[in-house]
Amino acid sequence: MTATVMSFANFKGGVGKTSTTALVGYNLAKSGHKVLIIDFDAQANLTSLLLKTKSADSDIITIDKSLMGAINDQIPLNEVTIEITENLTLIPNAVDFSMYARYLERNFNNELDRVSFFKKLIEPLKSNYDFIFIDVPPTLSLLNDTAFYACDQIIVVLQTQERSLSGAEVFITYLQETLINEFHSSVDILGILPVLSKKGARVDKEILKAALESFGPDNVFENKISIMERIKRMDMEGVTDSPKDIHDRRVHEIFTNVSTEILSRLEKVGV
Ligand SMILES: Nc1ncnc2c1ncn2[C@@H]1O[C@H](COP(=O)(O)OP(=O)(O)OP(=O)(O)O)[C@@H](O)[C@H]1O
Ligand SMILES: [Mg+2]
Repeated sequence: MTATVMSFANFKGGVGKTSTTALVGYNLAKSGHKVLIIDFDAQANLTSLLLKTKSADSDIITIDKSLMGAINDQIPLNEVTIEITENLTLIPNAVDFSMYARYLERNFNNELDRVSFFKKLIEPLKSNYDFIFIDVPPTLSLLNDTAFYACDQIIVVLQTQERSLSGAEVFITYLQETLINEFHSSVDILGILPVLSKKGARVDKEILKAALESFGPDNVFENKISIMERIKRMDMEGVTDSPKDIHDRRVHEIFTNVSTEILSRLEKVGV
């Protein structure tokens, strides 16, 4: 087993990167894949969401060490993982991760050594998982470059309530010019995943049409994520998954379909 490393990304904040990472990871794990999610954001939203998911059926969870602690003390990452559900594992983050960029600058003089640090760090984990997802903060920075450099595939999250595609376009150009041309990363873009604002909203349709023209129909996911109140509630309660609850069912149906499309897209590119 060698994990495929992926990230849902866009340098815009609040477009659904973290929720999508959690729900795709959760559903891939539920269907029997071994999934590791690495929280790579000092805001630790994903850590909080997944710890709530776990504590729904167990007692208090304390984090002994987060990602930065492991890096500082040179502890292998598999020693700081937390099991969330069967097949779903988390490497937690915390506010001390704000030191990460400084850590890289202090310890490595060469730019390529800095950028490739995280890829090397997660290498030993790959044999334990089918998929590793890295949940990044909304920035273009050295910090995120190290995450993207570690990725095999990036899925660009596109919020279609935006009146322009320029955010996604700028982000893709950045990946191409910085990661691929400058650092010769082998990272690829698996597709553009639309997050819709409202069912049937005109702006969604317009942006989707423009996205299909601009990126090419094959590069835009067939499955779209719609806005669902239940996902907002999960911020507070963790991922809920009651088969009797129609709102839970709807959320998981959409994310199961997105996960299935990810698997078929990976198969197409030979991963
Ligand atoms: N499909 C959705 N339907 C409804 N609410 C959503 C959906 N996806 C995300 N949200 C909500 O929108 C807010 C932002 O989502 P999220 O944290 O996933 O975005 P993000 O892109 O990771 O943000 P950041 O850039 O700050 O990391 C959260 O309150 C979340 O619950
Ligand atoms: Mg986030």
